[in-house]
Amino acid sequence: MSERLERRIRKDDPAKLEVILDVTRRLMSVTDLDALLELIAQATTQVLKADRATIFLVDADRGELWSKVALGGVQEIRFPVGAGISGEVARTGTIINIPDAYADPRFLRRFDQVTGYRTRNLLTFPMTGAQGTVIGVFQVLNKAEGPFTKEDEETLSSLASSAAVAVENAQLLAAQRKLWLSLVETLAVTIDARDQQTAGHSRRVTRYAEIIGRAMGWQGPQIERLRTAALLHDYGKIAVRDGVLQKPGKLDDKEFAYMKAHAEKTGEFLGYLEFPSDMREVPLIAAQHHERMDGKGYPSGLPASQILPGARIVAAADIFDALTARRYYKPPYPVAKTLEIMDGMAGDHLDPLVVAAVHRALPELEAAVEELKSTWPEAVDAEAELSERDQPAGSR
Ligand SMILES: [Fe+2]
Ligand SMILES: [Fe+2]
Repeated sequence: MSERLERRIRKDDPAKLEVILDVTRRLMSVTDLDALLELIAQATTQVLKADRATIFLVDADRGELWSKVALGGVQEIRFPVGAGISGEVARTGTIINIPDAYADPRFLRRFDQVTGYRTRNLLTFPMTGAQGTVIGVFQVLNKAEGPFTKEDEETLSSLASSAAVAVENAQLLAAQRKLWLSLVETLAVTIDARDQQTAGHSRRVTRYAEIIGRAMGWQGPQIERLRTAALLHDYGKIAVRDGVLQKPGKLDDKEFAYMKAHAEKTGEFLGYLEFPSDMREVPLIAAQHHERMDGKGYPSGLPASQILPGARIVAAADIFDALTARRYYKPPYPVAKTLEIMDGMAGDHLDPLVVAAVHRALPELEAAVEELKSTWPEAVDAEAELSERDQPAGSR
């Protein structure tokens, strides 16, 4: 905010200055775009003593403005840059201050008719980004002792410049996150594509792991970490030769030992990725998905105390998918039979707490199995037995 403006507000309305400074501080700490837009709208309403405010953002790729608005639940609305008052402000970067809405031909009463709201006056203001382009638009409605004044425009200009910095930061973070997630998904897809037998396996395990994790009370970053580890748990299979990976029958001992190396390879390969700090455990969780509670798992034969909670969940989700999905060598097992088998594995192989969560999450798991059926490998003559590779209670 300019010094002149700050001095004037300090003199005229010290409380307002406090609010503006407080909002500016808070803006910088919010990185989630939706939460940020909400905060900016609230702050604008408060500072300008208006009834409501909507923040529209420019989607430059599509040449549109969008916002989330409350219309019987939160909805996203979109319209072209150039359309309506906000569109015009986005296109030209100029302020439009309308003191009497119904006397101004630029105001479309249609919106009021849809929402049942009565707009008296409105101030529409561009938000300019670091590159000098309009990145969004503020629209503030119904000033308590309206209409909006020149001073309101100045106040909004100072809020808008802080908001622009925060919005561009949040957009940058969101873009990075999108890139990160799509990279992880691409890795998972390449693994699933190598073998028809396990087509879609990584995605399904991810979904099941998330459901089980939530049933255990996990949320937020814990679930994000779990999902990432589940998506990538078999990544090491990229290093397993086709002849072994795609062998339809039993693997001999040498082949099985070789196949087992995929878990270790998963940890090794993922070790090359620079994970963000809250994701640092991902390679370890993923690499432990064949460890067992009795210490007889692989690759390290870890005792239960050293097996990460996330790995225990991925292990259960992995087996849940091997049992419920169709494979070349076995038909899909019904969920009831799957649970029976998994119950028998609780304690020695699987963590009993995780198996209990599988029981609690049964309705969600069943719905997910139904939905994901389309991703199963194609049907072939099935021998009704598990292969050595998936042998859940196996003694090897
Ligand atoms: Fe595996
Ligand atoms: Fe797996």
